This record gives sequence, C-alpha cells and structure tokens, in this order.
Amino acid sequence: MINGTGITKTFRQRGGVLGAREVPALRGVDFAVPKGGAVSFIGESGCGKTTLGRIVAGLETCDSGEIVIDDVAMSSLSHRRRQPYFRRVQLIHQDPYSALNPTRTIHQALAAPLALRARQTGRPRSWADGRARELLGLVGLDPGYVLPRYPHQLSGGMRQRVVIARALTVDPEVLVADEAVSMIDVSLRLGILALLKDLRERLGVSVLFITHDVATARYIGTDGELYVIYRGQVVERGPVETVISAPVHPYTQALLSAIPVLHGLESPGDQRVVPVEASVGASGEYSDGCLFAPRCPFRTERCERERPALSRNGDMPQEHACFHPERRSVVAVPVSRR
Ligand SMILES: Nc1ncnc2c1ncn2[C@@H]1O[C@H](COP(=O)(O)OP(=O)(O)O)[C@@H](O)[C@H]1O
Ligand code: SF4
Ligand SMILES: [Mg+2]
Repeated sequence: MINGTGITKTFRQRGGVLGAREVPALRGVDFAVPKGGAVSFIGESGCGKTTLGRIVAGLETCDSGEIVIDDVAMSSLSHRRRQPYFRRVQLIHQDPYSALNPTRTIHQALAAPLALRARQTGRPRSWADGRARELLGLVGLDPGYVLPRYPHQLSGGMRQRVVIARALTVDPEVLVADEAVSMIDVSLRLGILALLKDLRERLGVSVLFITHDVATARYIGTDGELYVIYRGQVVERGPVETVISAPVHPYTQALLSAIPVLHGLESPGDQRVVPVEASVGASGEYSDGCLFAPRCPFRTERCERERPALSRNGDMPQEHACFHPERRSVVAVPVSRR
C-alpha cells in the first residue's frame, strides 16, 4: 500500500535573458495505490506524470507533501532508512533498451540483483540461477534462449519483459510503469499490458500506470481508478469506466474527444469538447484562476479568479476540480448494425 498527500514539485529551469524560470510540475497531488490494485495517471506531455512516478519510486524528492509506504511516512526516515521501503516500488520506464546495460548478457543483468537478494534473504547463491529462470518464465520468456543473449539481440517487447523480470528480483509490491509500452512495436504492446495485468493477479503486485493513452489506461485497470492530470493538478479522479464513459471535467472531455473515431465502425460522441486557444500572460494561465480556463470553452468569470480544488459534489461519482462540471457524452460509440 502506497499513498501520497499534497505532492508538490517545482523545477527551476534556466531561461535566456530572463534568468531562471520556475516550472510547477506537481501542485498538491493526492493519490492512493491499494494493495494489488491498479491506478492509472493520464494527461498530455509535460503535465507531471514522470515526475510523479519518480517521486513515488524514491528517485526524486518532492518539495512538500508526503509519501507513505506500508503506513510509514518517508519524511520521518533518514535517506538510508528509506531505501528498503522504496525498494518495494520498482519503476519501469518507456525505453527498455536504455534500462539494460548493452555490454552485459541477460544472465549477468539478473545475476547481480539476485545475488544481493539471496544475501538479504539468507538463501544460498545457487538459488539465484533457478530464480532467474523462474522469473523469466513468469514474464513469458524462454530462459534457455534469453539468458545468454545481449539486449540488442532481443526484440523491444522481449527487452521490456526482461526489465520487468529484473524489477521482480526484489519482490516489489508496486510496479510504476511510465509509458511502458510507448516505445514498443504496436503488435507487441498488448502482450506487455496483458503481462502487467497477469502479474497483478498472480503476484498481487499493484500497478501504477502512467500514460497519455486512454485505451491502455482502460485496458490495464478496468477495476481501478483513473486520475486525470492537467499542468500538475489532478482535475478528475474516479473509477476508470466512470471517468471514461461519463467524464465531468472539461479537460477530461477534451482529452477523450481527441481520440480518433474508427470510420464506419463508430460515430463520435455528440457533445465533443474542443479546447479554445486564449492567450493569458507569460505563464499561459490565470495566476489565481482555474488552470484549464485559458483553453476551456465553458469558462466563466469565476474560473478566471478562483482555482477549483479537487472535490466531490453533486451526484457525481467521481471527484473533479471544476466549478461547472457537467456530464457530457464525448467518447465515440459503436455504430449500431442495421
Ligand atoms: N529535471 C527537470 N528539470 C527541469 N524541469 C523539469 C525536469 N523534469 C521535468 N521538468 C519539467 O516539469 C514538467 C513535467 O514534466 P514531466 O514530469 O516529465 O511530464 P510528463 O511525464 O507528463 O510528460 C515539464 O514542464 C518539464 O519540462
Ligand atoms: S472551472 Fe471553469 S474554466 Fe475550469 S474547467 Fe471548469 S468550467 Fe472550465
Ligand atoms: Mg513522461
């Protein structure tokens, strides 16, 4: 079980003549990943997804907020004492090639973490070889084929499976998959998604899935929660199917409206939302207003003055950060057969 409250992170980027520029990457994000559950974060490029994944995996610190792993607040521990907790959270990122050392065989890539694991758990060294084979089998690879090979001798899909097997060497509780299939050949993606689903069922591992793609979020976490992030703020949160079939935040609606419609098979939702383009100051946003207001076709004066917080109100099953939430039918629906 891992959760976060008020996770905030601002990067200072070096600008040109204007000097340093502050980039708010996360603005008070709350989340909870239940044991064995699936949680997906979705949003466009630059909205803070990777930063959140890195903070959850202990690879980056937040400016304020708290990460709690198995009921222990990470801020209460020294850097060294945090490590065993963050080891329970393993990050799988989008490029399986750069995640593996090209000069080492898969056998070598798995042997080092497994030797360490054998020491930690008081097992004999000989255990590591059998475990490497077992883990490769678990991720759907043939150990005899894969173990002696170098990363470049494997397909992208196989490499990502090796990366997942390596993450499993430490018996993690949570896998953070950051765009884990975006660099893999389309024909192999479904296999990796099915594997993550299977690992949830077989090992009880939780998955925090980060993506810009609605279909993959839907596939991985049908029984889980979807968080929609816009400019570092969670703007809508709820059960995956609810958020997709009855989104209430205009940004979620715009994101879903942008999914291409399959001609001849689907017809577009009849209330599709298309963002507008308003230019607002240098930062592109109202300083105190709703972050989405410059692009929102439904903005009112209040939206320019006040920033809505994520909350639950009305009879809507999901939380949202909008003053004027409304259910709209935006996703494509199958054309009925005549
Ligand atoms: N190390 C960094 N230094 C400066 N700015 C960063 C750094 N990492 C991310 N950012 C900025 O933070 C914002 C969020 O980035 P990121 O988390 O990578 O978004 P996403 O994964 O959703 O595309 C972006 O504006 C990005 O430019
Ligand atoms: S608060 Fe206003 S501007 Fe923001 S998303 Fe809702 S309607 Fe649009
Ligand atoms: Mg990213």
